[in-house]
Amino acid sequence: MFIGNWKMNHLKADAENFAAQFLKLYKASTTGAADVGFAPVITTLPTLAASFGKVPGILVGSQNVHWLESGAHTGEISAAMVKEAGATFAIIGHSERRQFYGETDNTVSLRTKAAISAGLRAIVCVGETKEEFESGRTENVVRTQLIGSLKGIDAADLPLLTIAYEPVWAIGTGLTATPEIAGEVHSFTRKVLAEMFGQDNAGNIKILYGGSAKADNIAALMACQDVDGALVGGASLQAESFWKLVENGRTK
Ligand code: PGA
Repeated sequence: MFIGNWKMNHLKADAENFAAQFLKLYKASTTGAADVGFAPVITTLPTLAASFGKVPGILVGSQNVHWLESGAHTGEISAAMVKEAGATFAIIGHSERRQFYGETDNTVSLRTKAAISAGLRAIVCVGETKEEFESGRTENVVRTQLIGSLKGIDAADLPLLTIAYEPVWAIGTGLTATPEIAGEVHSFTRKVLAEMFGQDNAGNIKILYGGSAKADNIAALMACQDVDGALVGGASLQAESFWKLVENGRTK
């Protein structure tokens, strides 16, 4: 599974151009299938949903959802609203929201529950900062974030749960985690999920890697046992670079 997180990028015309180019590449491909997805800004979500919504294997989602259905919450958006706009998944608890917009494990857990209850796939992000990484606290941070962010999630919710491990120091920096680091943390993440939900359930949850994933490093990352795909920022903004990443990453 390869998800493009467009963050606060692309106006409608850019999204339309992207979709036209990407569809050409996607339809011409003869290699095996992979789930590909895009999380654009909310104003271009309907644009992408119109282009991709009926194409098997291409998903469109939002970058956030609030846990309530409606109310006095300026700047927020509910799960039903993003669904109406065409979303089938939502990214929850991205590190930029945790760092700059006051997202906590508790609010991430509420948003995750709301997304899944509405029938959206929740892609829940966890990951340590540079300082936490350098002081050897990665596992502690990831464990704490997983337990807190998935509070209230039970076995029935798991078919709609995906995890993204995104080391904050690797996001947008070009400092991709080495396959050794990513592989280790992904396996650790799977171990914590097994403690929470049982071995079999944990084995079925996809764990994506995020942080300067690119066409030329994705194959080595995907070769790690517990890396099931990628959440991609910068390299997802141009159709060709993202398509190359998808092609190079489709090793399993
Ligand atoms: P990046 O972003 O690929 O630009 O590092 C990844 C993300 O923030 O999801």
